[in-house]
Amino acid sequence: MKLTNNTILITGGTSGFGLEFAKQLIKLGNTVIITGRNEVKLEQTKKLLPGVHTFQSDVSDPKAIEVLFEKVTQQFPALNMLINNAGEMRKINLHDTSNDVNTITREIEINLSGPIRMVQEFLPYLKTKKTAAILNVTSGLALVPFPVSPVYGATKSGLRSYTKSLRVQLKNTDIKVFELLPPAASTPLIDKFNMDSKSLMAADNVIAAAIKGMQKDKLEIYPGMAKILHFLSRLAPRFIFAQLSKPVDVMLAEKK
Ligand SMILES: NC(=O)c1ccc[n+]([C@@H]2O[C@H](COP(=O)([O-])OP(=O)(O)OC[C@H]3O[C@@H](n4cnc5c(N)ncnc54)[C@H](OP(=O)(O)O)[C@@H]3O)[C@@H](O)[C@H]2O)c1
Repeated sequence: MKLTNNTILITGGTSGFGLEFAKQLIKLGNTVIITGRNEVKLEQTKKLLPGVHTFQSDVSDPKAIEVLFEKVTQQFPALNMLINNAGEMRKINLHDTSNDVNTITREIEINLSGPIRMVQEFLPYLKTKKTAAILNVTSGLALVPFPVSPVYGATKSGLRSYTKSLRVQLKNTDIKVFELLPPAASTPLIDKFNMDSKSLMAADNVIAAAIKGMQKDKLEIYPGMAKILHFLSRLAPRFIFAQLSKPVDVMLAEKK
């Protein structure tokens, strides 16, 4: 797919991968629109990237998605690409009773219902375009559960499943459906997990790989260590699951 002269909407564009996507896609000559919940972060991003367009919008709120659709398509009728990037990752100890029934599923609303609702809202519009694309940001953790983040993993494997089905249902349209499965990378989302910085891929490299992948029409993009995780999840699924289960011991010990 040609990645110049597109009009691209990115959810969650004020930090991490979303911000990198915005930077690199503007540089390539695209019109870029970003969303986020926090007005201050949107203003800061505008200062950092004068070419970017911003809308305050919460992807977990269906009404906000409807309003976003109206505003974006009115102001940017050439919109032909949607990047579902906004996401949240929490460490959740399932023994902790402070995670009540109202908050336990928060990541589902943002990471899974959010992209599904965005596609539902924008799909008829994208279908009117000669060339269009949807990119869903899942995760290497869509391939193997990460038990300290049980709800997060469930959302990402759910989004991967949805993305595959979407691609099949859109096979007779001009919309390409991409999935980006990033490895652990240094962004504000992962920084709170206190991981060894040497094991993290730089966010700009993840997004450079994503853009290269889309330019080559690779529908599933596995940057850096995600390639190895993909391979191991098929070759040695029990081994890799055991490795990713190790941090649970630390979490359970913390609770005692
Ligand atoms: N970093 C990694 O290692 C890694 C690995 C694999 C996959 N991913 C995935 O990559 C995506 C981006 O993550 P990141 O690491 O770049 O995270 P990040 O730096 O925390 O950025 C998240 C962005 O999403 C926005 N956001 C969060 N909740 C939102 C909501 N409800 N509505 C609209 N915007 C929202 C945030 O802005 P506001 O807070 O202002 O809304 C921010 O702009 C996520 O889907 C994540 O699961 C990350």
